[in-house]
Amino acid sequence: MRIVDLRSDTLTQPTDAMRRAMAEAQVGDDVFGEDPTINRLEEMAAERLGKEAALFVASGTMGGMVSNLAHCGRGDEMIIGGAGHTFLFEQGGSAALGGIHPHPVPTQPDGKLALEDIEAAVRSDNVHFPRTRLIILENTHNLCNGFPLDTHYMQAVGEIARRHKLKIHVDGARFFNAAVALDIDPKDLAAEADSVSFCLSKGLGAPVGSVVCGTQDFINEARRARKVLGGGMRQAGVLAAAGIVALSEMVDRLADDHANAKKLAMGLAEMPGISIDPDQIPTNIVFFEVNREDMTPAEFVQRIDTEGIRMLAVPAGPNIVRAVTHYHITTEDIDQALSVISKVMG
Ligand SMILES: Cc1ncc(COP(=O)(O)O)c(C=O)c1O
Repeated sequence: MRIVDLRSDTLTQPTDAMRRAMAEAQVGDDVFGEDPTINRLEEMAAERLGKEAALFVASGTMGGMVSNLAHCGRGDEMIIGGAGHTFLFEQGGSAALGGIHPHPVPTQPDGKLALEDIEAAVRSDNVHFPRTRLIILENTHNLCNGFPLDTHYMQAVGEIARRHKLKIHVDGARFFNAAVALDIDPKDLAAEADSVSFCLSKGLGAPVGSVVCGTQDFINEARRARKVLGGGMRQAGVLAAAGIVALSEMVDRLADDHANAKKLAMGLAEMPGISIDPDQIPTNIVFFEVNREDMTPAEFVQRIDTEGIRMLAVPAGPNIVRAVTHYHITTEDIDQALSVISKVMG
């Protein structure tokens, strides 16, 4: 039985080209700055996002953490979406390890933070308050159906940040999904951000790693933060080699994942007992509700699993199931998933 695994875009296996590049990678000690493959990946990433410099890190979580540590000191405050990955799913690491105070504001259904909420969250100069330093945005937004933030919105947040002398960090775990969905140059989408972290190991299919991009001064600080977190990885060019393939070969094809997610959403919308609006599925993340008295989302997921279709029942809200498309998922797989779901719901 073919398994159609839609639980996450982190489940992908490295491509043949990635495995070849990993086997042949030239490596050196990256803490000495001497790994040519990591240096190349960092140059490529900085160039793609129109920033001065970049830093290869172990994970999306580490990318966000080193960025927050580089932008903020202890007791500083970061404005962050209440549904943001950094706020919800990273153990409050910036507070736990960096003494950075999170100031959550509501995340809107399209992944934005309302401009007036950001403005209202900025602290005035008062001895009682922490100092606001940073605004964190998430693009695309994981819990908000993979919604991309566009340049128009980024400019509006940029204007607030400049006025209050704040930095902007974009948690761009799926930043290239956003650029592809909006059909714009990633440089333009990154322009208002002081730093962007993106994952090589989600839609881009590499086995490990994320990259943080920003000014040279910022990257110098982020590099120090990475070291104290234990992220100086020595001959990690074997990993960066796959990242280079991911950046070179795996970006444009994200459009296929978006088309497959839309196809899945449209099929699901036709089924009794399932609620979803396909117009609200702009990239590769599909959330839908299973509204059945006799079947919880967990039971739904278990039932389709026995027929080879894997999805996740997630605690994002009542009755919510998540499916994510990626490069192992074909159009035929979506047909197969819909046929199994139709049987289970019938
Ligand atoms: C938006 C977002 N940011 C950060 C992360 C963390 O990435 P990692 O699991 O590589 O630490 C994730 C993981 O799913 C994510 O979706």
